[in-house]
Amino acid sequence: MLVRPEVGIFMQGREICRLFLDYFRRQGHVVLPSAPLVPADDPTLLWTAAGMVPFKPYFTGAAKPEFRRVATCQKCLRTQDIESVGKTARHLTFFEMLGNFSFGDYFKAEAIAMAWEFITKELRLERDRLWFSVYEADEEAVELWTKLGVSPDRIVRLGRDTNFWEIGVGPCGPCSEIYYDLGPALACGPGCRVGCDCDRYLEIWNLVFIQYYRDEKGQYLPLENKGVDTGMGLERMAMVLQGVSSPFSTDLFREVVAAVVQEVNLPPSDRRVKVIADHARAVSFGLAEGVLPSNEGRGYVMRRLLRRSLLYGVLDGKEEPFLGRVADAVIRTMGEAYPELLSNRDHILRVIRNEEERFLLTLSQGMRLLHEAVEKVLARGQKVLPGEEAFRLYDTYGFPLELTAEICAERGLSVDREGFAREMEAQRKRARGAREAVEYLGARERFYRELREEQGPVSFVGYEQLRLSTRVRALMLDGVLREVLASGEVGEVVLDATPFYAEKGGQVSDKGVLRWPGGEALVEHVEQPVEGITVHRVRVREGELRAGSEVLAEVDAARRRQTARNHTAAHLLHQALKEVLGPHVKQAGSLVAPDRLRFDFDHYQALTPEELKQVERRVNQVVLMAVPVLTFTTSLAEAQSMGAVALFGEKYGEVVRVVKIGDYSIELCAGTHLRNTAEVGVFKIVAESSVAANTRRIEAVTGEGALAYFDELEEDYHRIAALLKAPARQLSQRVESTLAELKQLQRELESLRDRLAAYTVQELLDQAQEIDGVKVLAAKVEMQDPAGLRVLTDRLRERLGPTSVIMLGSGSNGKVSLVVAAAPGAVARGINAAQLVKTMARVVEGGGGGKAEFGQAGGKNPARLAEALQLGQEFLRQRLASSC
Ligand code: ALA
Repeated sequence: MLVRPEVGIFMQGREICRLFLDYFRRQGHVVLPSAPLVPADDPTLLWTAAGMVPFKPYFTGAAKPEFRRVATCQKCLRTQDIESVGKTARHLTFFEMLGNFSFGDYFKAEAIAMAWEFITKELRLERDRLWFSVYEADEEAVELWTKLGVSPDRIVRLGRDTNFWEIGVGPCGPCSEIYYDLGPALACGPGCRVGCDCDRYLEIWNLVFIQYYRDEKGQYLPLENKGVDTGMGLERMAMVLQGVSSPFSTDLFREVVAAVVQEVNLPPSDRRVKVIADHARAVSFGLAEGVLPSNEGRGYVMRRLLRRSLLYGVLDGKEEPFLGRVADAVIRTMGEAYPELLSNRDHILRVIRNEEERFLLTLSQGMRLLHEAVEKVLARGQKVLPGEEAFRLYDTYGFPLELTAEICAERGLSVDREGFAREMEAQRKRARGAREAVEYLGARERFYRELREEQGPVSFVGYEQLRLSTRVRALMLDGVLREVLASGEVGEVVLDATPFYAEKGGQVSDKGVLRWPGGEALVEHVEQPVEGITVHRVRVREGELRAGSEVLAEVDAARRRQTARNHTAAHLLHQALKEVLGPHVKQAGSLVAPDRLRFDFDHYQALTPEELKQVERRVNQVVLMAVPVLTFTTSLAEAQSMGAVALFGEKYGEVVRVVKIGDYSIELCAGTHLRNTAEVGVFKIVAESSVAANTRRIEAVTGEGALAYFDELEEDYHRIAALLKAPARQLSQRVESTLAELKQLQRELESLRDRLAAYTVQELLDQAQEIDGVKVLAAKVEMQDPAGLRVLTDRLRERLGPTSVIMLGSGSNGKVSLVVAAAPGAVARGINAAQLVKTMARVVEGGGGGKAEFGQAGGKNPARLAEALQLGQEFLRQRLASSC
C-alpha cells in the first residue's frame, strides 16, 4: 500500500469522507445525505454538477432552509470535461464532492478558517505543498489567508474564468481555491504556475462566497443574505492522501479499474482503461436513478457515455458486451455508500446489456465500412483517408473522428481532417438552409403573433362549456387575410374566445361547427400556431362567414367525451405502468384521440403478457372504483410538492394545471378530462410494441372504442365458428381437430408426390438418348415449381450417370421454367449448363444463369418451350461434335 512519504499516513477514500463530515458536524453543521443526480426542480440544469445544486433556493431565499449550516458528500456528474477524462490527472465525469454550506450564516472569514484547520490539522497536509488562489480584487481573502499563516507569495490572484463560480441561473460569487503541488516532475514547463492547465498544481478545494444571483438575462443582482458553498473533490483528495498521481490509482477506483483491465487487457495506466472506469461509474449512477439511454437530454448523456466506453473496448478487440461486469464492480464497491445501486442492480445491468448489444451491431457495420475504406486507400497506394469517408462514418454510425483516426493510424494512414471539417460545415449549412426555409414559411406565424399583440390572446372556455357565442376576429385563406369566406371555401378562423380545444400535449383537437344566421361552417381542425392564438380550420357549408360577425361555436360533445375517456385512461395507464414495471417508467410521448390512445414510455424490454394483463387489470380496477377526477390550477412549486408528475422537457409557466385522480395519479396536464374514472367504461390494451431503443408503445381503447373492439372480436369469432361449422363454445376443439386432419392430408399428399415423381422419372428415363457418348435427356414436364424441378433433375442425374446432360422445361399460364444439369463427365467435355440454359431461355423470351453443373432460367412464352428444348439438343450436339 502506498504511503505518503512526507507524513507517513494513508487514508481510505471513505475515511476522508467520514473525517470531513465529522469535522463539520463538530462545527455546528447538519450532515445531509446526497441529493439525486437528477436535480429535482431545476429546469436550468441537466445534472447535479456540484454540491450546492440542491441548495440553490436556500441561497437565494426562494425557500427557507431548515438548517443554516449543512455539510454533504454529494454525487455529481459533469459532462463538459468528458474529453479530458484520462488525459489529465484530475478530470472525471462522475465524482463525489464534499462540501460545507452556509445559508445566510457564516461567511468568508469562518469558511477560510475552517478549511485551513481541516486541511492542516485533520488531514495534516504538508504546508509547503499548499497554494491558494483568490479572485483578483478580493483583498479581504488575501488578508484572511495570511492571518492564518499562509505566506503571501503562496497566494495567487486569478481572474473571473477560474475564480468566479456560477452554474446556470442562480446564486454565484467569487471564490478562493486551495491547490496541492504534486511536484515539479509534473510541471508543463518553466512557466508552470497555479492556475495553468497541467497536472502539477491540483485544485483540491474551492470556497465560494455566494453573494449574487444570476438571472435569466445574465445580470448579477446582489443577494440579501450572503452564503458559503464549498467543494472538495473526494477523488482528488484521495489522490493526495494516498500519494498517487491519478484518481484511478486510489482505493476508490481500484476494483473498478481491475474489472476494466480484466476485460480489455491493457495496463491500468492506459487512457482507455480510465475512460471506461470513469464512464461506468457515471452510467451506473444515472441508470440507478431511472435515466434511460435515449437521443436527448439526460438520456443522451447516458447513451454517449455508454457508447464511448464501448468504442474504447471495441478498439481493443472486444466483440461481446462487457460493460456490465465493470458496472457490477461499481455497484459492489460503491453500493454500501449509495444503496440505490444495490436496489437497482438488475435494472442497471439489463439496460447496459441492451444498449451494448444494439450499439455493437451498428458499430460492426461501421467498422466494416471503415476497414473497406482503409483497404481501398492502401490499394491505391495512398496514405490519407478522405475526409468524406470519415464524415460519413461520423454522420451515419456515430464514429468520432478521433476513433477513425486511431484505427487509420494502426494501418499507417492519416485522416484528411480538413476535408472532414469541410463536410461538417457543409452539413451545418444544409441545416441552416432548412431553418431559413422554415423561417420563410413563418409569415403565417408572424401574422398571428401580431394579431395577439394587437388584440390579446384568445381565451379558452372549453374546460367548462362546449358552446359559446363569440365574434370572428380574423379570417385567412391560403395565407391571405380575408373579409369573407364563401360557401365551399376552406380557411382559417380566429375567434375572440373559443370552446374548441387546440391540438397539444398529445391530445387531438376538437371538431364541431360554427353557426350564424343563414350559415354554417364545419370546424375540421384546431391548432395554436403561436401561443395564445387558437386557429380553427373550417369548411363553409352554407352562407358566408364574415370577419367581425357573431357566431355560435359548438364543439362535437360526443367526440370530446370519447377523447376525454382516453385522456383520463392515459393517466391511469401511466400510473399503472409505474406500479407494475417500476418507477423508471416515464412518458415519452402520447396520442389521445376519440377512438384510441397511444402511450410511449421509457422501458428496456417488451412487456410480458402477464405484465400487460396486470397493467390492464390495474387500470380497470380504478375505473370500477369510480374515482373522482379533479382539475385545478396552482403554482408549479405547489404542484410539485403534491407530487405531480411533470414531463421532462416541457416548460411550464408559473401557474400550472393539475389533473388529480383521487390519490392514484397526479399530473400536470392541459388536456380535457372526465369527472370520474367510471366514465372510462372499460379499458383494453390492443397492442404493445417498440418505437425506439428503450421506448415501448402501448395502444389501447376505452368506452365506445373498446365496445367496438369487442364487437369485432366477437364477429370474427362467430365467422370462424360458422366456417368451421362448430358450436360457439367448442371452437378451439374444432380448430385442433381440423389442424390434425390437415396434417394427415399433408402427409398423404407428400407420399403421393413421391410416387408420382418415381413414376415420372421412369417415364423420362425412357426418353433419354445418347449423343457422342453423352446421355442426353431433353423433356417437357408438368412440374411448375422450380424447387420440384431441381429435385427431379437430381434423381434423373443419379440414374443417368456421370456423363449426362438433363434439360427439363415446364410451362403454362405465360410462365416457363427451365433447368439444365450437366454431370461432371459432361462438364469435362466442355458443356456448360448455365450457358446452355441461357441460350434456351432466349427462345422463350427469358433469361437465367447458374454454374457449369447447373443452370436455371425463366421465360414468358410457353408456346415455344418445345423449340427451346430442341435448340438445347442442337446446341449440345454441335458442342460435343466439336469437342471430340
Ligand atoms: N460549487 C463549487 C464547485 O463546484 C464549490 O467548485
